[in-house]
Amino acid sequence: MTNVAIIGTGHHVPERVVTNEELKQWMDTSDEWIRERSGISERRWVTPGTTTDDMAHAAARMAIDDAGIEASELDMIVFATINPDHFFPGNGVLLQKSLGVDTIGALDIRNQCTGFVYGVATAAAYIKSGLYRTVLVVGAELQSSSLDLSDRGRDISVLFGDGAGAAILQAVDPESGSTSDVLASSLHSQGENARELWCELPAGCLPGRITPELMAEGRHFPLMNGRAVFKHAVIRFCQAIDEVLEKAGVTRDEIKLVVPHQANLRITEAVAKRFELRPEQVFSNIQRYGNTTAASIPIALSEAVREGRLVRGDLVVLVAFGSGFTWGANLIRW
Ligand code: UT7
Repeated sequence: MTNVAIIGTGHHVPERVVTNEELKQWMDTSDEWIRERSGISERRWVTPGTTTDDMAHAAARMAIDDAGIEASELDMIVFATINPDHFFPGNGVLLQKSLGVDTIGALDIRNQCTGFVYGVATAAAYIKSGLYRTVLVVGAELQSSSLDLSDRGRDISVLFGDGAGAAILQAVDPESGSTSDVLASSLHSQGENARELWCELPAGCLPGRITPELMAEGRHFPLMNGRAVFKHAVIRFCQAIDEVLEKAGVTRDEIKLVVPHQANLRITEAVAKRFELRPEQVFSNIQRYGNTTAASIPIALSEAVREGRLVRGDLVVLVAFGSGFTWGANLIRW
């Protein structure tokens, strides 16, 4: 069977920096509260007119260039987002058009913060099965247009940011001497917690899907039971990491880098403590970008590579937890 290498990464964040101080003009909050509870100092928001596709396109182009391939070599697009530009069609087809590639397949993934981990698992399975050779996996989120900037939404609105990240996965012959591979993945869901972190509207199950009355109640904004999500996140992050290590027969101390979904610095620190990971074994950029949902892991991965935190042969774990609940991990030999 063929192995799978990540041959290129890329990311894009909007230029507009929104500091914690700036959020005070809309809601009752403070820099101190946000930093203490989440570790976030600032996040990026798009300027009006920018789309999810614009950010995804920029990240994808960077990954394609980094891989040293032509966009025409892509066989498939896997696109993870909870913020598609439209209710349908999904953003995969928009990226197929904006990249100007042939009529290749485009799969949209709706697994929230775990979207990129699901995407990598899916792309790796496509490649290992022989169906495709080169797959683009993208996570892109334009969240700033959907935030409740009043006090009602302050628990979530201070956390979320905009951005996009991408990776190119390609078949590699193990005979070539390359050790790169997606060694194991674990994917989970638990729908009984769907309403602990969700955005109810527009809802296909409601007549009219969205009405002024429902909007007045704020039901088109994301809602979260922060404490419940936090508690589950720490447990599930740890379980997912353990699962992929066990599947591949790898021990914790062999991990070079964990790239967690950037949900909250306190969650990352709690996971690092349980696994007795040294600071250099964990990547965090939530301080600068906030929580960018499906984009957070590929943005972090792209930055980690550019900072020289990963070289070929290293073991890296991507791990995520989020709305659904969904959670999972990928263990990758870089
Ligand atoms: O990416 C998907 C996964 N998402 C997550 O993993 C997020 C998980 N949850 C969290 O990160 C944390 O629960 C939060 C950062 C959202 C909140 O931190 P917390 O320590 O759990 O605070 P809390 O929700 O218990 O709220 C404490 C207080 C409340 O006031 P009272 O009731 O104690 O008077 C909130 O109303 O903080 C208040 N509060 C705020 N104060 C200032 C909530 N949001 C804010 C705010 N600024 N933005």
